[in-house]
Amino acid sequence: MTPPPGEIPSEVAAAWALQRPPPGDRIGAPRGGPHPAPTALVLGDPAPHLPRALAQTGYALTRWHRDLTRGQICAPWPPSGPFGEVWVRMPRSSREAAMLLHAAAARVADGARIHLYGAGREGIRSSARHFPEGTDPPDTLLIKRRCRVLAATRRAPPPRPDALDSWEVRAPVDWGTGARDWTFYPGVFACGHLDAATALLIDCLPALPAGARLLDFGAGTGIIAAAALERGAPGAEAVLLERDAIALVAASRNLPGATLVLGRSAAAVPGPFALIVSTPPIHAGSAQSLHTVEELVREAPAVLAPGGRLLLVAQRRLPIARILERTFPLINTIADRESFRVWEAGRNQP
Ligand SMILES: C[S@@+](CC[C@H](N)C(=O)[O-])C[C@H]1O[C@@H](n2cnc3c(N)ncnc32)[C@H](O)[C@@H]1O
Repeated sequence: MTPPPGEIPSEVAAAWALQRPPPGDRIGAPRGGPHPAPTALVLGDPAPHLPRALAQTGYALTRWHRDLTRGQICAPWPPSGPFGEVWVRMPRSSREAAMLLHAAAARVADGARIHLYGAGREGIRSSARHFPEGTDPPDTLLIKRRCRVLAATRRAPPPRPDALDSWEVRAPVDWGTGARDWTFYPGVFACGHLDAATALLIDCLPALPAGARLLDFGAGTGIIAAAALERGAPGAEAVLLERDAIALVAASRNLPGATLVLGRSAAAVPGPFALIVSTPPIHAGSAQSLHTVEELVREAPAVLAPGGRLLLVAQRRLPIARILERTFPLINTIADRESFRVWEAGRNQP
């Protein structure tokens, strides 16, 4: 069976890890007597191939992911280590690559190796520039199946403090009521700006009455929830559900006092909600996938209050109405702008 495209880089990195000499045979490895297993940290890889190869070749492994992922530590920043080596899965953006490689370099000693692996279309060919000051220029260890494995040796500690906050991006955001300074971090959705689909959904938000509860599913940095609270009566409440621990740190800066939930499913959040809003993810890795929207639509009725509404925004070309029809008898298109559309769905009249 062909693996999903996002797994191929992990397979290629695993192939390299399996064919290198075992840790004890390497130049510079300590000789004689029993030695503790060498340690490796893998950052941001949901696929099992590389971790399995490292474990098979004698490494004690730690896995970290910013996204909630089974079998991995999920936290806003990787565990501190130190580790014998670090492996970084090429992330979505250049800024995130620089951030993760910096964190990797802060988790090894001088002389240790930091690896980066990914596919050509993820930007791995031009990724050498993301390694931080204090590391040698990276070597290319393997090129296979349009993927590359690079490694650089650390010579000195990296320059920035080893903390998420040293990567904070502050930018003005205006959803129609005046610009405010907003906190983002590399790799969050629409880092540094207001996305057009998000803005369209905000334009459709009803005014929440006092005491009403809103669930922002896939809340990112919290822009939709913040706009809803601003528009609603005092005493309305927002719950932000997000699977990315780093996005939730941004949301905590932007909406101090809001309820933040690290999770992947609306069913995990106690209702009832008068309104569920979402700019749902329509990709899994780089491939289009409506799996999360389908799951949200299936689970929404269980947490919606009687007469409650689900508001979704997505590209007009997507079969969102068909997905909603499986669960909701009442569906309206309430906005249509450029390539985006907002659908409102409910089970009974408010
Ligand atoms: C398109 S972005 C929208 C972010 C934010 N609502 C906005 O408009 O700026 C989708 C968000 O959903 C999050 N996400 C993806 N799958 C999720 C899931 N199963 N559960 C919770 N959040 C999820 C992503 O991490 C991302 O922050």
